[in-house]
Amino acid sequence: MAEFDVIVIGGGPGGYVCAIRCAQLGLKTACVEGRESLGGTCLNVGCIPSKALLHATHELHEAEHNFAKMGLKGKSPSVDWKQMQAYKQEVIDGNTKGIEFLFKKNKVTWLKGWGSIPAAGQVKVGDDVHTAKNIIIASGSEPSSLPGIEIDEKTVVTSTGALSLGKIPKTMVVIGAGVIGLEMGSVYARLGTEVTVVEYLDAITPGMDSEVAKNFQKILTKQGLKFVLGAAVQGVDTSGGKAKVNYKLNKDDSEATIEAETVLVATGRKPFTDGLGLEALGVELMPRGQIKTDGHWQTSVKGVYAIGDAIQGPMLAHKAEDEGMAVAEVVAGKHGHVNYDVIPGVIYTTPEVSSVGKTEDALKQEGVKYKVGKFSFMGNGRAKAVFQSDGFVKLIVDENDRILGCHIIGPGAGDLIHEVCVAMEFGASAEDLALTCHAHPTFSEAVREAALACGDGAIHA
Ligand code: NAI
Repeated sequence: MAEFDVIVIGGGPGGYVCAIRCAQLGLKTACVEGRESLGGTCLNVGCIPSKALLHATHELHEAEHNFAKMGLKGKSPSVDWKQMQAYKQEVIDGNTKGIEFLFKKNKVTWLKGWGSIPAAGQVKVGDDVHTAKNIIIASGSEPSSLPGIEIDEKTVVTSTGALSLGKIPKTMVVIGAGVIGLEMGSVYARLGTEVTVVEYLDAITPGMDSEVAKNFQKILTKQGLKFVLGAAVQGVDTSGGKAKVNYKLNKDDSEATIEAETVLVATGRKPFTDGLGLEALGVELMPRGQIKTDGHWQTSVKGVYAIGDAIQGPMLAHKAEDEGMAVAEVVAGKHGHVNYDVIPGVIYTTPEVSSVGKTEDALKQEGVKYKVGKFSFMGNGRAKAVFQSDGFVKLIVDENDRILGCHIIGPGAGDLIHEVCVAMEFGASAEDLALTCHAHPTFSEAVREAALACGDGAIHA
């Protein structure tokens, strides 16, 4: 048993960042993590391994589709799935060991095991009960399935199983056209799997700017993904060896079945709070299972805080990290703040898709007057040189030219969006962006051109 100023429960991006910041602020800090390695879902079975597979299969796509055009001739690479998995594991290990190093450097104690909170001020790990002035729950989320579907992580998998399939399937049905479905669907489509995405709504990527979503679907269709939209999956039958996915079309209630070797269930995630003892402790939950917190991330129990996927808001690693840093400031007696209006979202397909702030659809609904400046990557020299001129930057400003949102589909979209995030944090206008010199030739010129399009017009349009 030991005494700490802060014990953070969970070593994912929310928890480990929070623990490091607490230690940097002079607090005696421990972080409880039950996995064999730190980093949570993100580093072990989420963001990082999926990016490794997206990178490897993107390179394969380049070799198969674009090398010959550039005069790079010869045999295309063949896929060694075992080696690709080993590369993915190396990327995971490099990252998770990095967090261990940061814990040592910052003197954060890793309490190995699964934690629970027997009482305010106490955290139990194994047989040991440690005390802490502040407890921060960063226990993350887990995949949520649908009734009528049994996950075995072999034939019917979540994102976790999809990252480590025994072999590359010939056919795959992805249930849900959200971020996970499209990223993992892209990976397998590039590996030669016939991928069909079944989505309940009439459009892919719910919440995304509808013009971007339509464009994105067209591009993914060109890449070989098939879509069945407006279809509610009713269940998956695995009794005959292959999986049979049964769905009902919303428009006429007609039913249909698709067979596939593998089914990826990507219908969202839910807060993971099992085993923490929250009910006995009296921590209030929200109707969908999230831990209820106040404006300073404190739960209904004094001295117990919660952040990340376990509370409300988008389930994004960077949102959790920001909350982790902010709550560390709060428990250290400083002013922690997160600007929830400027949290970017990125889908790491090719092309990448990113967004921040308001969509046109939301502004229309709210009755806000706005102006759009759009610029196609067709007019961007660098994008043309790398075969990625599909897509555009769409900047949305209010009547006074103040930036309200930005939506990008195109090369490097996940990095480009941050220029707009900084501009929004500073309350900048599109003109501010337009008057900022952008190096040539870069993809970022497309952001400047979209800003110019909000005023007197883009140059290369
Ligand atoms: P999601 O919420 O993004 O998408 C789930 C989709 O499933 C929705 O489009 C929904 O309409 C559909 N759906 C639900 N029930 C259905 C049914 N019965 N039949 C057909 N379709 C149905 O969830 P996803 O993709 O599983 O991701 C989970 C979380 O992880 C999200 O919050 C996401 O933001 C996060 N994530 C973020 C990543 C990133 O930032 N790049 C990468 C991976 C995950």
